[in-house]
Amino acid sequence: MEHTYKIIVVGIGPGSPDYVLPIASRTIAGAKVLVGSKRALDTFGSANQVIRIIDKDIKGVLDFIEGRLACQDVVVLVSGDPGFYSMLAALRGRFAAERITVIPGISSAQLAFARLAEVWQDAALISMHGRQAADDVLRYRPGHKLGILTDTQHNPAHIACVLLEHGWPETACVWLCTNLSYDNEVVAAMTLAETTGTPGFEHSVMVVKA
Ligand SMILES: C[S@@+](CC[C@H](N)C(=O)[O-])C[C@H]1O[C@@H](n2cnc3c(N)ncnc32)[C@H](O)[C@@H]1O
Repeated sequence: MEHTYKIIVVGIGPGSPDYVLPIASRTIAGAKVLVGSKRALDTFGSANQVIRIIDKDIKGVLDFIEGRLACQDVVVLVSGDPGFYSMLAALRGRFAAERITVIPGISSAQLAFARLAEVWQDAALISMHGRQAADDVLRYRPGHKLGILTDTQHNPAHIACVLLEHGWPETACVWLCTNLSYDNEVVAAMTLAETTGTPGFEHSVMVVKA
């Protein structure tokens, strides 16, 4: 019977190798074909592997994976956990679930809440990385807690203005968590009003609690 090769989607955690599961490390080390961001490939790739950088041409990346799958397994590296805003969604748009094995990773959102010693079971976890969030999730209600992935356009200063428009009090507590797990990690605490005037923290987890 013909062998069916697989796509193995590996969550590499927030960045530092310290936060990578042993099964993920073994899978990456054994990979012949590795697909991932430049940063991920620089950190986890090795010279004997065929590599493909995930760039803006997602269709091109999917075509590359499909071509390689005819004769090899393909390991796809994604940051954090594959189930939380990753390339897995695009892969599932092209390939059946049976073709895909997922190895979970520690999400940046998990690590942010861990750093604050806060539970996240009662938080709404959303991404404004390249996307908008629904009004209903953003609207203030007492006890509401948010964990938000940010980007250069939807940066914390911008998101803070959006939250004030959605009824959040100026005194709400905000933590901006950036470069989590790296040596230059920063977790900055401030109010929502102060966040509107805080530049930077563009690729962060922004935790908000009233
Ligand atoms: C495409 S999303 C990927 C999320 C990922 N799947 C996860 O579970 O963390 C990229 C966003 O995740 C967040 N992120 C990823 N790694 C991070 C880190 N080490 N520190 C802070 N935020 C991070 C940033 O908001 C970044 O813009």
